[in-house]
Amino acid sequence: MDTSARKAKRMAHLPLYLMDEVVRLKNQAVARGMDVIDLGVGDPDFPTPQHILAAAHAALDDGASHHYSSFRGLAELRRAFAAWYRNRFGVLLDPDTEVLPLIGSKEGIGHIHLAFVDTGDEVLIPDPGYPTYQGGTILAGGTPRYYPLRADTGWLPDLGGIERQDLRRVKLMHINYPSNPTTATASPEFFDQVAAFGMRHNIMICHDNAYSEVYFDGVRPPSFLQAKDAMQIGIEFHSLSKTFLMTGWRIGVAVGRRDTIAALGEVKSNYDTGIFPVVQRAGVAALTGDQSLLEGMRRRFQRRRDLFVDGLNRLGYATERPNATFYAWSRIRGPEPSAQFARRLLDQAGVVVTPGAGFGPCGEGYFRAALTVDEGRLAEAIERIRRVSQ
Ligand SMILES: Cc1ncc(COP(=O)(O)O)c(C=O)c1O
Repeated sequence: MDTSARKAKRMAHLPLYLMDEVVRLKNQAVARGMDVIDLGVGDPDFPTPQHILAAAHAALDDGASHHYSSFRGLAELRRAFAAWYRNRFGVLLDPDTEVLPLIGSKEGIGHIHLAFVDTGDEVLIPDPGYPTYQGGTILAGGTPRYYPLRADTGWLPDLGGIERQDLRRVKLMHINYPSNPTTATASPEFFDQVAAFGMRHNIMICHDNAYSEVYFDGVRPPSFLQAKDAMQIGIEFHSLSKTFLMTGWRIGVAVGRRDTIAALGEVKSNYDTGIFPVVQRAGVAALTGDQSLLEGMRRRFQRRRDLFVDGLNRLGYATERPNATFYAWSRIRGPEPSAQFARRLLDQAGVVVTPGAGFGPCGEGYFRAALTVDEGRLAEAIERIRRVSQ
């Protein structure tokens, strides 16, 4: 039986998941015996902090953690998320109705569309942007409506331009600051404008704040929920992945407007039975534990950022010094397409980067490097890039 012929029509619109392709090419190079410096996937190389591991060990030894949990998460975890939001952003949340733990924020970002998007509905998606906004839209039968982001406007959307379009079919808008891949950050005033835009057009704003804790020079990125009316028109996705160096554990959260959170919960109740309780209890330890540990992570990423960004700029790859995220977003010299450039870098230099066009057409001409290897390897990567840039 030809199963491919039986696949749902929507699958035909689903692009290859970008990171799977990057990993596939890297694995091929490793199999050829190449010494590869992997700046592809955004997965920090630092271990999860000890006190989080200790909480997980204790939870693992407690039989109460071995059973089905609920898609709603442990009450203790919801309370910990609410307290963390109050301490970090001054945002007050009801742990029972405005907080929904997720199996990583990607899970919630994907599923939100099933709750709000019907066939033919449109979703505003940043170009370039994190691929799950697009994948989730398509899998729900919706139509992505990409809004361009460009360097000359600080990689922020032109809300006035979007507003001049016919927005009647638009249900949701995704935004993401600090941004992957562009590394741009947004001000509280920008979030006020986005919330007002959402209110004017009855468009649900979904803000992805996965990188809010990976900031530099002491400038802390805000939460969308601090904006006026945000709790009426939006939700925010957050994650313990990058915040507490827990990418593999799969734990995140959706917070914000009550009935939106409830609708996402309805979808989840049909798909999952919650996060492994051991991971939830590790999450509580992360959220309620010593936050000053994060300072060490930021300092190390900042040193890497300075070394790598300076190195690229010296080679003529224009790269802004990011205020947040552990990426560098760099302009390719000359007209070479980003996929070809990334391929050449891998084949000739053994350095994995992600082609900008993989994040959307407006990413063409750029590449993204994740600063997830130590300074020695980053210096080596710069040297290798120099050699293939003559
Ligand atoms: C912008 C952005 N949002 C969300 C995620 C998903 O993170 P997680 O599912 O680990 O919480 C990522 C992961 O790379 C990301 O870059």
